[in-house]
Amino acid sequence: MRLIVAKNYEEMSQRAADLIAAQVLQEEDSVLGLATGGSPVGTYDCLAEMYREGRLDFSKVTSVNLDEYEGMTHDNPQSYWYFMNEHFYSRVNIRPENTHVPDGADPDPEHACRAYDRIIEEVGGIDLQLLGIGPDGHIGFNEPADAFAVGTHLVTLEQSTIEANRRFFEKEEDVPRSAVTMGIGSIMRARRIVLVANGENKQDPVLASFFGPVTPKMPASILQLHPNCTVVLDEAAAAKIRDRI
Ligand code: GLP
Repeated sequence: MRLIVAKNYEEMSQRAADLIAAQVLQEEDSVLGLATGGSPVGTYDCLAEMYREGRLDFSKVTSVNLDEYEGMTHDNPQSYWYFMNEHFYSRVNIRPENTHVPDGADPDPEHACRAYDRIIEEVGGIDLQLLGIGPDGHIGFNEPADAFAVGTHLVTLEQSTIEANRRFFEKEEDVPRSAVTMGIGSIMRARRIVLVANGENKQDPVLASFFGPVTPKMPASILQLHPNCTVVLDEAAAAKIRDRI
């Protein structure tokens, strides 16, 4: 695992965007695994800027997103599809038919999960997976559990996750209680992983995940076993691991 400590959010975002850009420049038909949340917003800004300047071309790129809230349709401004469209799809030349987000609105979540696993398989797996990390160490919406989930599955969100995501909603009751997420197996099969984390509230999950035991109780800890994982932190998120790197 490679750890990069950037000065601030802007530098963290640029470093992560540079790694994604390198992937796309090397393989124009790359499959990018993408993430939502506040952490990757700056990364998408940098990628959109590189596209605007004519330095990147997403016309042959495919994207598969990590997760979606249960019951959310694309037109819902709180949906992760809407987030992706706003921050990335609409700002670059990725083809709409090449973008994929789990279908949180499928009345049969099990069907949606199997369909999503098929999509990941059909596109040939993920070349580079971008990740954030939750305050409880979750990746995608893989919450702390007794075992690592392999494929796409429906999860009940932890109270700490509901509270962390509360800032995107008007009131806490509006935050969905469940979501469909790609499994740890699919994430770990990505050929390359880039995780971004910023801010003080990521200090503990960063310390526990990358310097503690590998355990499903701290889902991001599994990344210690990935052969090509780069963790890009800002100084605040790196504060508790500074003396270990
Ligand atoms: C959500 C997403 C995760 C994301 C996490 C952290 O729970 N499902 O993929 O990593 O939030 O979000 P933020 O980057 O806003 O701290």
